[in-house]
Amino acid sequence: MIDLSTNYLGLKLKNPIVAASSGLTGSLEGLLSMEKHGAGAVVIKSIFEEEILLQAELEVQEAEKDPMIYSGHSEILDYIDLHIKEDKLKDYLKLIRDARKNLSIPVIASINCISSEDWTHFTRKMEEAGADALELNIFLNPADFKNKEFEKAYFKIIKKVLDNVKIPVAIKISKYFTRLGLSVKALSESGVAGIVLFNRFYTPDIDIEKIAITSANMFSTPEEQYETLRWTAIMSEKIDCDLAASTGIHKGEDVVKMILAGANVTQLASTLYKNGPDQISRILKKVEKWMTEKGFDSLDQFRGMIARMYGEDPAAFERMQFMKNFSEIN
Ligand SMILES: Cc1cc2nc3c(=O)[nH]c(=O)nc-3n(C[C@H](O)[C@H](O)[C@H](O)COP(=O)(O)O)c2cc1C
Repeated sequence: MIDLSTNYLGLKLKNPIVAASSGLTGSLEGLLSMEKHGAGAVVIKSIFEEEILLQAELEVQEAEKDPMIYSGHSEILDYIDLHIKEDKLKDYLKLIRDARKNLSIPVIASINCISSEDWTHFTRKMEEAGADALELNIFLNPADFKNKEFEKAYFKIIKKVLDNVKIPVAIKISKYFTRLGLSVKALSESGVAGIVLFNRFYTPDIDIEKIAITSANMFSTPEEQYETLRWTAIMSEKIDCDLAASTGIHKGEDVVKMILAGANVTQLASTLYKNGPDQISRILKKVEKWMTEKGFDSLDQFRGMIARMYGEDPAAFERMQFMKNFSEIN
């Protein structure tokens, strides 16, 4: 009997397939569909820090035009500001509550954030609404020339959120760090329960006929999995918190590879858009088939097998692989 169960963020999941935060997980209907097709957990579509703040700003501007509402007292504006932010959140909290009531798998709420401003107290409400865990998609853009604090900002955000909630917190990060390995290690020691490697940024393309910027692929391709695979293998034996592998995971084979690299779970979005939510059950079948063929009956029997080959010094290991593979090519 094959056991696909895995632990992630202190939660027991029946299998390592997590429906990643996306439009597919932005409604109760979508979340139920993920569960129906076999997902081990779901991450609800993110609420965006900017979205909340922008909406509040616009409404305050409107309010300022109305003498009935705006009498010049900053407390009134503060009240409206806070009230609107909470209104925006109300829908999100309802989705968490509905999801928790109607799904039996873990429900992870998500915030896409860029600062440690006054959104962090909302996390407690998410916890109260029943989220089993929280994922912070810390979306700091290395193209931001104003942000001199870049890496410090991660720790500030994490600390503020951890001060607010007791549920496990995972962070979803990009690969744009100076000394990525040391940064991921330091983040893993900040009190988070897990790290999601990696987020995917908007990437531009250029239409040379129109001489205009267009959007490159909205969805990932399987080729994008290799950076995730590499860093999962490098980090999984070096950190104490859990790892979720994300980006470019499209098939059962990819899931097997990520577990061999040491991931606790995999997060999927693009393949579910491209192939429909039924792709989850196809992937699970493939993982089971591979495990049967190899004689494994639990994920722990092969989790991290490849990561352990990296040994104490991943850089030296990779240099050796590089020399072995490239030195004979003329
Ligand atoms: C249409 C779409 C919407 C997404 N929305 C979110 C979001 O709200 N929050 C988030 O953290 N990630 C979001 N993502 C990113 C995914 O969660 C995932 O990290 C990324 O797509 C890489 O995984 P994939 O290769 O399986 O697509 C979105 C992705 C897509 C394609």
